[in-house]
Amino acid sequence: MKGIVLAGGTGSRLFPLTKITNKHLLPIYDKPMIYYPIQTLVDAGIQDIMLVTGGKNSGDFLRLLANGKSFGLKHIDYTYQEGEGGIADALALAEHFADGQKICVVLGDNLIEGNVRKAVDDFRNQTRGAKILLKEVEDAERFGVAELVGNCIVNIEEKPRNPKSNYAVTGIYMYDETVFAKIRSLVPSKRGELEITDVNNAYIREGAMTFSFLEGWWTDAGTFESLLRAANLVAHTRRQQVQDLERQLAQPVH
Ligand code: G1P
Repeated sequence: MKGIVLAGGTGSRLFPLTKITNKHLLPIYDKPMIYYPIQTLVDAGIQDIMLVTGGKNSGDFLRLLANGKSFGLKHIDYTYQEGEGGIADALALAEHFADGQKICVVLGDNLIEGNVRKAVDDFRNQTRGAKILLKEVEDAERFGVAELVGNCIVNIEEKPRNPKSNYAVTGIYMYDETVFAKIRSLVPSKRGELEITDVNNAYIREGAMTFSFLEGWWTDAGTFESLLRAANLVAHTRRQQVQDLERQLAQPVH
């Protein structure tokens, strides 16, 4: 399976932080934001990764990441999104890279505590279609929201005023090769973008969408509030990891 990180857009909700740099290069605690989604893919066992960037500072990604040595990668592919066409528009640029294989897409501003390896492995064994990861949240109206009937996902609404559930669709998506044909059939939404939610609903209508629930914390980082939240969550997790390690080292050796 190939991995794609989407890191385009102008980051207008984080202005003026994003006036002179790309949102995905901003710090989250001790690392640039873009490190986290790349690590998510690497932790899931995906080594073949493309980064879709955009904006005025796209060259900085190459300077920062190079060929991904610090992630144990041999190589990273890069491509450039012109303008503000939305998530699905950015994903369309990865068609030649995907080359008919299944893909795992991570939004560049999505951070998770845990590991999605199990979901990715399950999707490897899924014959066709798509898979998404849901997370229960208190502010569902900020996200794509899943409507569930029993064990079935029947629809996703993008940022609904009155969410039908508390299950947000996280920015980790797995697709088969039909995703690119689906993107070609999309029309821009009211905000003038090709919406990833429309892609997901196309899979749902085909009866080809599966989902699982994400364990551990999840956050986006595209607003001032969520950027701060992301940094605090990472800092807290790091402290816990250090404490766990110290506890282990303090154990007597038998
Ligand atoms: C996007 C998607 C939304 C999803 C969210 C996850 O929202 O459109 O469905 O729940 O990412 O972070 P955006 O970041 O464009 O507001």
